[in-house]
Amino acid sequence: MTDTPTRPRIAVLVGSLRADSINLKIARSIIALGGHRADIEIVPIADLALYSEELDASPPAEYARFRSQITAADGVIFCTPEYNRGVPGGLKNAIDVGSRPSGHNVWSGKPTVIVSASPSPIGGFGANHQLRQLCVFLDMPTMQQPEAYLGSVAAEKFDADGVVTDDALKSFLGSIVEAYMAWLARALRARRPQSSVTVSASPIGWHDQW
Ligand code: FNR
Repeated sequence: MTDTPTRPRIAVLVGSLRADSINLKIARSIIALGGHRADIEIVPIADLALYSEELDASPPAEYARFRSQITAADGVIFCTPEYNRGVPGGLKNAIDVGSRPSGHNVWSGKPTVIVSASPSPIGGFGANHQLRQLCVFLDMPTMQQPEAYLGSVAAEKFDADGVVTDDALKSFLGSIVEAYMAWLARALRARRPQSSVTVSASPIGWHDQW
């Protein structure tokens, strides 16, 4: 996008593949809370073959579909559980697919917010911060505050459509959505082409090869 979209397009990545996932319910709740401000869509990851560089000689159709959906998005929301104190394998695979082939990282420059949810009180802190670390290398501006570690999340906090009903969770999630929408708008405005000032890349700076 070259200008600030009036209605940004936001891709949501859900780190769980479970039909009854609490993180999927969080994603649906985010759509319910923020859908009047943006076009927010869940981008499927379950069909992506495990990434191997060899597949990029003739990329599977699912890779092309996934990469173009992320490319078309103005921003990205991650909703993820924590698996063994880290990012679930399916989500990491999707991130890897989007990051390649080398020089074609579809994540680059996409402002993101990381939301982690768990039945445990720790709220997926480990996965959340591992994902933040990945975002550094992926060149994704990441909303710093407020942070979203959603602890003690249970299916009873949602209605039959998977939308949050619990007052405290709804209010907190609403504040995250509001903060992200405002921050995303600022980030997209700042991206408008403006002055002739150029900044040289540092020889020890970002490199997408390793
Ligand atoms: C888990 N779970 C889990 N929970 C947590 O808080 N910290 C952890 O490190 C882990 N590790 C872990 C590993 C694996 C392989 C599984 C399957 C589960 C429990 C997890 O939070 C719980 O199953 C959530 O309900 C998963 O999220 P969804 O699928 O409900 O979104």
